[in-house]
Amino acid sequence: MSDDGRAALERAYAHALGFDEARRSRSPNVLAGVEALRAALDGPTPEQGTSAAVVIDNLIRGAEPGVMGTTGGRFFGWVIGASHPAGVAADWLTSLWGQNGGSFYAAPANAVAEQVAARWLLDLLGLPPESSVGFTTGATMANFVCLAAARNKLLREAGWDVEADGLHGAPPLRVCIGDDAHATVFSALRYLGLGYRRVTRVATDAAGRMDASALSDALSGELGPLVVIAQAGQINTGAFDPFDEIAELTHECGGWVHVDGAFGLWARTCPERAALAAGAEKADSWATDGHKWLQTPYDCGYAIVRDAQAHREAMTVGASYLPTTGEDIRDPLHFAPELSRRARGFATWTMLRVLGREGIAAMVGRHCALARRMADRLAAESGIEVLNDVELNQFVVRFGAAAGSPEEGDALTKAVIARTQAAGVCYVGGGSWRERWVMRVSVISWPTTEADVDMSTDSIIAAWREVNERGVG
Ligand SMILES: Cc1ncc(COP(=O)(O)O)c(C=O)c1O
Repeated sequence: MSDDGRAALERAYAHALGFDEARRSRSPNVLAGVEALRAALDGPTPEQGTSAAVVIDNLIRGAEPGVMGTTGGRFFGWVIGASHPAGVAADWLTSLWGQNGGSFYAAPANAVAEQVAARWLLDLLGLPPESSVGFTTGATMANFVCLAAARNKLLREAGWDVEADGLHGAPPLRVCIGDDAHATVFSALRYLGLGYRRVTRVATDAAGRMDASALSDALSGELGPLVVIAQAGQINTGAFDPFDEIAELTHECGGWVHVDGAFGLWARTCPERAALAAGAEKADSWATDGHKWLQTPYDCGYAIVRDAQAHREAMTVGASYLPTTGEDIRDPLHFAPELSRRARGFATWTMLRVLGREGIAAMVGRHCALARRMADRLAAESGIEVLNDVELNQFVVRFGAAAGSPEEGDALTKAVIARTQAAGVCYVGGGSWRERWVMRVSVISWPTTEADVDMSTDSIIAAWREVNERGVG
C-alpha cells in the first residue's frame, strides 16, 4: 500500500477511535446547517488529485458536524440501530477486502459467512430451518424480495409464468394488507407492479393491529391467487398482528402470508417478549433488518422465504461468464436482487457471534423495559399522554391533554418536539398517528442506559413545562 493510502487509513482509524470514545457525550443532533456543510464540502470539480490523507482529513472536518448522533445512547428518532463497533470493524474489513458479495466465486468467504449467519438467524428468530435468506440493503428491499417470491409462485400455480411473461394479461393477484402497514411495503408493491392502490386494506385496532375478523370478511368469495401482508412491530406503537388467525385464514384460501418484521421480529429472540410475535413462524416469508435491533452498520436487511425454490426463482441471475455452483454451495446472487453488492455476511456473522443468543435477548428485553420506564415517567406528568401500551420499544406521546382543540394539541406537540431537539439532550422525532401529531420514541440503540433514558425524560418534561407555560410561540 502507498504511504499516502496508509496515512488515509490511519487518519480514519484515529478519528474512529475518538468518535467511539465520545459516543456517550456527543450531541444527538446535527451541529452544522446545510449551508455550513455545503461550504465545507462543495467546490469546483477536482481537476488534479489530492493526497488521500489530506482528503480524509477534509472529509472528517467537513462532514462530522453534519453527522446525526444516531450512534449515541440518547437518540430515539425513527427506528435506527447504533452501528456497534464490532460490526463496524467487520465492515471496515469488508471494504478493505473489496469483496463483491453477489457471487460465491467473487467472494467465497462472504458466501459462507452469509450461509452460516443465515442458519443462526433462523434459529434465533425461531423460523423454519428450511427457509432461505437473502441479504439486502434493508427491510424495504427484503419486503420486495419476499413479495416477488410470493407473486411468482402464486401466479405460477395459477398457470402464469410472470418471470417470462410479465404482468400483462396475468391473472389478478389479490393483496390484503393492514391499514397501518409501513410505507415501504407499499413501495415494494409498487416496484413489483402490484400497485399500492390496488390492495385491499384491512381495518386495524387502536394500536394498529390487523383486525382478524375484518380480514375474514375480506377473504370471502372468489379470491384467486392471494397474498396477505402482516406486520410484526408497528412503526409507532410496536404492535403485532394476530399471526395465528391470519395464517389460518390465509392458508385456508391457499394464500401466502408475508410478515414485515423490520424490528419487531426480534421480539422472538427475547423470552419475555416472544409471545408478542407468536404465530409469526406460520407465515411463508419474513422481512427484517440487521441495522436496527442487531446493530450492524448500515445497510443490512434479510429476506427470508420458507420456499427456498420460489425465492431462488424470483431472484436468480445467470450468464455464461458467471460460474455456477453445485447444490452444496449457496451462491448469494440467487437470493437478493443485486449482482454486485456489499458483502453483508461479515458484519452479520460478527454481530451474531459478539452478542450471541443471550446478548441479543438481553438487549431487546432491556430496550423494551427502558421504553416502558420512559413512557411511565412521561405519562405521570400532567398534560402528557402516552397513546399506546408500551409492550415493545416504540411509543407515541401527545402533549396538552387539556388543549382546547386537536389543532392546539398538534401545535403544542410540535413545539415540545422542537424544544426537546433544541435542548440537545436527546433526539426525538414527530409523526402523525390517528390524524394527530405525536412525538415518536424508539428505544433501539445498544449504548442506551437507564441514565440516558432518565436524562432524556427529564429534558422532554422540561420542554413540555416550558411550552405549557410560555405557549408555542
Ligand atoms: C415496520 C417497518 N417495515 C419496513 C421498514 C423499512 O426498513 P428499511 O428502512 O430498513 O428499508 C421499517 C423502517 O423503519 C419499518 O419500521
